[in-house]
Amino acid sequence: MTEKVPAEIRHEISRMVKELNEHSYRYYVLDAPVISDAEYDRQYRRLRELEEQFGYVLPDSPTQRVGAPPSERFDKVSHAEPMLSLDNAFSHDEMREFDKKLRKLLNSDKNIEYTVEPKYDGLAMELTYRDGLLVRASTRGDGYEGEDVTRNIRTIREVPLRMEGAPVPHEIDIRGEVYMDTDEFEALNRQREEQGEPAFANPRNAAAGSVRQLDSRITASRRLHLACYGMGSVTGMIFTSQSDFINWLRTSRFPLPAKMAVVKGVDNVIDEILRLEHERDSFPFETDGAVVKVNDFGLQQKLGVKTREPRWAIAYKFQAHRETTVIREIHGSVGRTGVITPFAVFEPVRIGGVTVSRSTLHNWDEIKRKDIRVGDTVVIERAGDVIPHVISVDLKRRPKKSEEVIVPDKCPVCGSQVVREEGEVAARCVSLHCPAQLQEKIVHFASRGGMDIEGLGEKNVEILFKKGLIRHFEDVYRLKKDDLLDLPRFAEKSAQNLISAIEKSKQATLARFLFAIGILHVGEYAARLLARNFRRLDDLYGVQKESILGIKQVGEKIAASVSAFFNDRKNLHLLESMKKLGLDLSNPDFASGRKNGLALEGLTLVITGTLPKSRKDIEALIESHGGHAASAVSANTDYLVAGEDAGSKFEKAKKLGVKIISFDALIKMTEEDSAQRRLF
Ligand code: IVH
Repeated sequence: MTEKVPAEIRHEISRMVKELNEHSYRYYVLDAPVISDAEYDRQYRRLRELEEQFGYVLPDSPTQRVGAPPSERFDKVSHAEPMLSLDNAFSHDEMREFDKKLRKLLNSDKNIEYTVEPKYDGLAMELTYRDGLLVRASTRGDGYEGEDVTRNIRTIREVPLRMEGAPVPHEIDIRGEVYMDTDEFEALNRQREEQGEPAFANPRNAAAGSVRQLDSRITASRRLHLACYGMGSVTGMIFTSQSDFINWLRTSRFPLPAKMAVVKGVDNVIDEILRLEHERDSFPFETDGAVVKVNDFGLQQKLGVKTREPRWAIAYKFQAHRETTVIREIHGSVGRTGVITPFAVFEPVRIGGVTVSRSTLHNWDEIKRKDIRVGDTVVIERAGDVIPHVISVDLKRRPKKSEEVIVPDKCPVCGSQVVREEGEVAARCVSLHCPAQLQEKIVHFASRGGMDIEGLGEKNVEILFKKGLIRHFEDVYRLKKDDLLDLPRFAEKSAQNLISAIEKSKQATLARFLFAIGILHVGEYAARLLARNFRRLDDLYGVQKESILGIKQVGEKIAASVSAFFNDRKNLHLLESMKKLGLDLSNPDFASGRKNGLALEGLTLVITGTLPKSRKDIEALIESHGGHAASAVSANTDYLVAGEDAGSKFEKAKKLGVKIISFDALIKMTEEDSAQRRLF
């Protein structure tokens, strides 16, 4: 085909691609454009016309960044060199220890030269360039094998599709972090909330969610960024140090970390860390630490790597962000099982670049323990996630007439009686007809891990509920497009989209369905085990506890609850009427085909220290990924998830040689599952 395109057209197209890429680089990377946006658009359109007319498109053409129609799944990619993670240091002392250890290993008392740069809270990425052209972008995955997300990464304007400058290595893997600025993150969450979609908990999840889109046009619509900081395998070129490599990246027009210092000796490293910590709030992106690397590649080589982390680098973690604010209101919100969870609404404050105005108070005992009251001035902390935690109350600033918070004896939504069972911290609304519970049940039913009905989030469910259009799961399958058209927030297209999403959900897997209907104690993992063992919904009708107990990893509590559910006539009636409405569920459960099962399958984990999430949440996370959360460290423990101020468990784990990991590492381990889950 190329032969048919006249040479002067090919030259013209090539010249225009080069010129537009130059402008794009000036605009996105250097932040110093030399032409107006309108002029850029004019040239861009002209290029696109020529490309279309002659059917001649260069691989690095800016027109190739707009995204392409959805694909089925992501292919797997092996990394030529494993993508490692980083060890953490939580104090200056630990930084000094790190430096001391390295000098010992190197058998030298000379000051080591280090680079210090911000740690980006995003998604690690490997970009493979062959003869200067971007050929592949892949996620970190388990470090050895990731996912091919080339189509999505191409849409990020700062990513060079062809590297400029000289010299160009034959093949090189460049590593960096894809991230989202905090402003963009907040705007995206506002938009999602308006559309009734769940907000992302933090910019990292937002970036990861945007990269893992099967429809790259969605990725293109999110303003993602890249910061390159490392190298994988390279052929045809030699670099001598990190700073040498970074300088080459700069001349080759790659986007770099906002700041990078090269300093000698640990004292200067600590100075640099303090500077970064001081400046962190002025960065447009979220950073939770600094990465310190030995600069010289020769020394890096000598020091080598541990199992999953290099010896020559460490991540210094900053203190979590803290702010002071005043509590305006304390309310209870009713979940799908009737549990009433208290939350505080406070004066909005900006904390680490994100505006926050509410936080969960976890449970009523916690309020009592911390003695939190309306009107109190409190210190809140935000560690990664947008939802902060109340750390302490400033009693000196408590208003005179403040009153203790009392556990409500009536449901805040339906006014029914609230009970607290013996030994349980939770307060529960006992009504079977509580609208809040029914509504939350439907939100859960339609959620991503459940029937995955896009467009049936919190807000829309509320509207449908108020209009009396849905009350139980089955009503979802009775919705007609015409019902929706009269409602606020719905127009022709959105109504059609929701009806199509509902239609699609009829083919969900049995595992998803069992999770979606919210049987007490049945999480995603238990639902999968049940689906794998029973295969058809009807096989569960009238099931006895004993036959469920036969499934490995299913305990007494789950078995009793599942059996009770499938022996209740009303429930079976509901299931039958859903089937009549077209619910199919014959779709095989792809989960059982997965190579290694769930990420934590068969592993025993123990948690200790101060962690960014509640103990219960972390345990639930571990269980939902197939792991077992134990309370004490023993020789059978596979991992200890340690936060700050870890005590005796930490020591014991060290003694027994149990692997100790951070909360972030745990999240990274489970992220693969989440990606898998979205595929079926
Ligand atoms: S260097 C050998 N530099 O942090 C390890 N990593 O916790 C190479 N990260 O997987 C990583 N900012 O995704 C490096 N400036 C930076 C970073 C950075 C963020 C991420 C990276 C890595 C994780 C480890």
